[in-house]
Amino acid sequence: MKFELHHVDILTDDMEKSLAFYQEKLGMQLIFHSDAAGTDVAFLADRANTNFYIELVGPPFIDFQDAFFKQHGPLMDHFSYLVDDADVWYEKLRPEGVDFITKPEEFLGVKEFYFYDASGTIAEIMMFQDPSFALGPPTEAAPFNGVDYRLHHLSITCKDIAELERFYVEKIGMQTVHENRPEGYIFLADPELVADKSREAPLLEIMGPPGLREREQAFINRHGPGIDHLCFVVDDVDEAHEELVSKGVAFDVEPMDYEGNRIAFFKDPNGIDLELMLPIPREHLVT
Ligand SMILES: [Fe+2]
Ligand SMILES: [Fe+2]
Repeated sequence: MKFELHHVDILTDDMEKSLAFYQEKLGMQLIFHSDAAGTDVAFLADRANTNFYIELVGPPFIDFQDAFFKQHGPLMDHFSYLVDDADVWYEKLRPEGVDFITKPEEFLGVKEFYFYDASGTIAEIMMFQDPSFALGPPTEAAPFNGVDYRLHHLSITCKDIAELERFYVEKIGMQTVHENRPEGYIFLADPELVADKSREAPLLEIMGPPGLREREQAFINRHGPGIDHLCFVVDDVDEAHEELVSKGVAFDVEPMDYEGNRIAFFKDPNGIDLELMLPIPREHLVT
């Protein structure tokens, strides 16, 4: 059954500041913004049209998001898969003993439901009901004088990588495409998208012991398992770092070599960790 990673959601108490940050510092483009359904929802796309989006949601929040926000404050509360038929997925996951938060419901032109994964992280499965609503890049790109930031992966930090991997492989059908278990990380993707050479597949990273570093351990101590960072790839991490610093962005982790890549970490206005890294060459992904 066709599915693909579609977006990661940030709950924010300052929509204006969040929109300004992602648009002005990272050149993302606003492709949807509405409070018609009673909650403030915006979608942002990167300039490369990766088909992987950031959703920003501002108050008033719907019930389970309100509970999440009261517990954690601004944070990424869920990520989402786009599928052809949300009802079929709901029926497929029901016998698997998945812990559902909602049944398929209509909201803003999509049909969607939410559930907890094996780590307690919230995931969403959605379909477009009204094809005219389908999100796409803006027809005219807003000018941006900066490097090219492409959304690459979201990362869940958990206590047991193997348990969570089983959940996403056996119940959802993702495939582990890149891993370094002693260092405590694996990457998963939709197998069809990885095989499709015409586009980049957005990845789901799962991190956990024994490789948890200080930043990840601090996240677990504070929030428990959950979505702890979002990553953009750039062609030159040091150049992007320099540009962001010149725009007033502070870095928690300065550019450093890591596992044959180069990484750095900074924060968005909600305190969310954002990673920069170089692309993972396609030949390093298992297909
Ligand atoms: Fe969502
Ligand atoms: Fe990462």
